[in-house]
Amino acid sequence: APGCKIGLSILNSDLASLGAECLRMLDSGANYLHLDVMDGHFVPNITFGHPVVKSLQKQLGQDPFFDMHMMVLRPEQWVKPMAVAGANQYTFHLEATKNPGALIKDIWENGMKVDHAIKPGTTVEYLAPWANQIDVALVMTVEPGFGGQKFMEDMMPKVHWLRTQFPSLEIEVDGGVGPDTIHKCAEAGANMIVSGSAIMRSEDPRSVINLLRNVCSE
Ligand code: DX5
Ligand code: ZN
Repeated sequence: APGCKIGLSILNSDLASLGAECLRMLDSGANYLHLDVMDGHFVPNITFGHPVVKSLQKQLGQDPFFDMHMMVLRPEQWVKPMAVAGANQYTFHLEATKNPGALIKDIWENGMKVDHAIKPGTTVEYLAPWANQIDVALVMTVEPGFGGQKFMEDMMPKVHWLRTQFPSLEIEVDGGVGPDTIHKCAEAGANMIVSGSAIMRSEDPRSVINLLRNVCSE
């Protein structure tokens, strides 16, 4: 897809050096930061919330694009605090809310882009009714909760279907994406690529980011 963007998931970085790690990745060419927020209820893991985003926003200075991946129950609760903290995109799980319409409106009114995420077990038909009202759809390619898992190739038909039905929708993939799996994502039509361990583990993150972006933009 033209204009492919690479989002860095910092989940597998040294969280004690979060600011420095984010800077290092932005300097290596990442287009945006994908911050994984987990509440220990929607997923069996806990990370951080809006206070950390606020500190990052202050420390990074260069005004990076923050994509907040909200793996939480009751995502309604954090829209305003995240917007105030400097978030640019609010990515919430369709499985976690009873009223997506109201939430979409609230996110827009708070000046953020809307991203609908679906877990591997959720069908794309479930998302389709909202597709004309959202900016981005996130198709998870691992079970949410942990970095470093294996890419689920069988999610690609969802991406392909969305790309065909909604040509102008931004489509994000997240989980196990790296040099070995980017071709599948690109072929299916994804244009926002989240990658964590494949980039963080590398001694040359710049070249991995460039490779991912080049393959995706072909
Ligand atoms: C999983 C997270 C992903 C993940 C990506 O719940 O949403 O963002 O950390 O990391 P990798 O690329 O290591 O799978
Ligand atoms: Zn994520």
